[in-house]
Amino acid sequence: MSWTLAITNQKGGVGKTTTAVNLAAALAERGQRVLLIDLDPQGNATVSTGQDKATLERTVADVLLDAVPVAEVICAIDAAGFDLLPAHLELAGAEFQLVTRIGRELKLKQALAPLQAQYDLVLIDCPPALNTLTINALVAANDVLIPVQCEYFALEGLSSLLDTLEQVRLALNPSLGIAGVLRTLFDARNLLAQQVSEQLLSHFGDQVFATPIPRNVRLAEAPSHGLPAMLYDRQSVGALAYEALAEEVLRRMPGAAERPVVPRGLSRAMPSKSGAKSADKSSRKAAPKLKKKKAKK
Ligand SMILES: Nc1ncnc2c1ncn2[C@@H]1O[C@H](COP(=O)(O)OP(=O)(O)OP(=O)(O)O)[C@@H](O)[C@H]1O
Ligand SMILES: [Mg+2]
Repeated sequence: MSWTLAITNQKGGVGKTTTAVNLAAALAERGQRVLLIDLDPQGNATVSTGQDKATLERTVADVLLDAVPVAEVICAIDAAGFDLLPAHLELAGAEFQLVTRIGRELKLKQALAPLQAQYDLVLIDCPPALNTLTINALVAANDVLIPVQCEYFALEGLSSLLDTLEQVRLALNPSLGIAGVLRTLFDARNLLAQQVSEQLLSHFGDQVFATPIPRNVRLAEAPSHGLPAMLYDRQSVGALAYEALAEEVLRRMPGAAERPVVPRGLSRAMPSKSGAKSADKSSRKAAPKLKKKKAKK
């Protein structure tokens, strides 16, 4: 069984795609079989992994609308060692068409069902909207990973995301949990960033990943080279932060205690470990009620 994480926040530009691509690469480097799904019509994850959107024959839109098997659409990102289900602008039209389809929220989950034994982790890069595409991701996912930029409106946006998660739990995916809250574009010298970070820690406790992702120009440059940061500049603080995040994600992965520790460097050569169990929610907490607590000024 794979562990499926929706990387989601309806707020734009908070580092969802940067996290999806770099986490996928860091997890693949650690021997995990990873599928990255670009579920954003912007196709940023697709471009960030070196794919040419103009020449894609099929995309995730074909999977959602016409039930084309995912296996026929996936492309291997050889340099980074993971697979990609790519997206293109046509996904915006697909989202519109899905609205009239019966079972529209279940399309991605149904499409991924045959792949459960093939991947250890599936990462879904969501669009910056709480739309049908995002709901498809939340229904297909076991848990969400929420990137948050530590700035003034961050918590406000989180309240509506938590409401949406609750609605999805009630109607469609009762076991949807929070894998973690990730502080992104983090500048520890910035007082406001520190304050928002403290608020996140007080609301979410140890659901906040210990690793914040610093603002780092290498992370911004890497996509234009079609590479994850660790292949663009391995020693950059951005690449190193995503490596540390990958270690944390693996520790939070269901079944983590039963998996052998794979020394880094050996991981690519080793057969993939599929000991992950997806249903164990005991180590993860339900979402805290963010709205009930007043944010400290
Ligand atoms: N830690 C970082 N340091 C520097 N630049 C970053 C960092 N994280 C992301 N960026 C840059 O910030 C911009 C937004 O990041 P990204 O595309 O990952 O956000 P997003 O949440 O996926 O955006 P959208 O909501 O539009 O999909 C991009 O130009 C990206 O290269
Ligand atoms: Mg994005």
